[in-house]
Amino acid sequence: MRTLVLVVVSCHLGCRPSEAPRTPAPAPVKQRARAPGFKAIGGLEGENPGLDAQVDPAGLVKQLALEAGQRVADIGARRGYYVRRFSDAVGPDGSVVVTDVDDDALAALAAQAAGRKNVQVRRAAPDVSGLEDGTYDLVFMSGVDHFLHDRVAYLTALKRALKPGGRIAVTHTQALKAPLAQAAREAGLVVIGGEDRPDFYLLIFRPA
Ligand SMILES: C[S@@+](CC[C@H](N)C(=O)[O-])C[C@H]1O[C@@H](n2cnc3c(N)ncnc32)[C@H](O)[C@@H]1O
Repeated sequence: MRTLVLVVVSCHLGCRPSEAPRTPAPAPVKQRARAPGFKAIGGLEGENPGLDAQVDPAGLVKQLALEAGQRVADIGARRGYYVRRFSDAVGPDGSVVVTDVDDDALAALAAQAAGRKNVQVRRAAPDVSGLEDGTYDLVFMSGVDHFLHDRVAYLTALKRALKPGGRIAVTHTQALKAPLAQAAREAGLVVIGGEDRPDFYLLIFRPA
């Protein structure tokens, strides 16, 4: 007897069906109930108090321990949920490069960047971050890695963008932690920090 197994990966940050991941779906992971008001969208802080309570953007950015003058990349920033906080954290002598592959996202990011001289918006390609080698203190991805065709290849290439001592931080829903952690190991990254929340995880890596 043949058994058909359907694996459903939920996306809480605004996936489109046409952008479904090509990498094999991870084994289902039991998730805890979400807080009332939680909505499955990628947006701006303040638009959705339920999401903000789950993500805790202030706490997350604090954990990243950014310093004035540092250079940060936010890959797949969409509407720029973290842009204001990153921009404020690195200050006028720092810089924040925000990327996306989607035209609507790039337009929204350009609007966010207006008036913030330390924020630069760039179009990325699906398999190429476009980040310069050796220039970033932190490369950040939130709700993006499930779109990547090959997480291991992408993360391996991403290491080149880091300055000595630079870090890669990834946050996403708990259900997608296992495949990212596995890919990061295979890409030669070691965990140096992070945290688990009921719905989201944060992992901070450095090259091994
Ligand atoms: C679910 S949204 C997350 C947005 C934002 N990071 C957040 O946490 O609210 C994922 C975004 O990643 C973008 N994206 C997908 N693949 C990408 C890639 N290879 N490089 C850059 N951006 C990508 C999508 O266009 C989308 O805007």
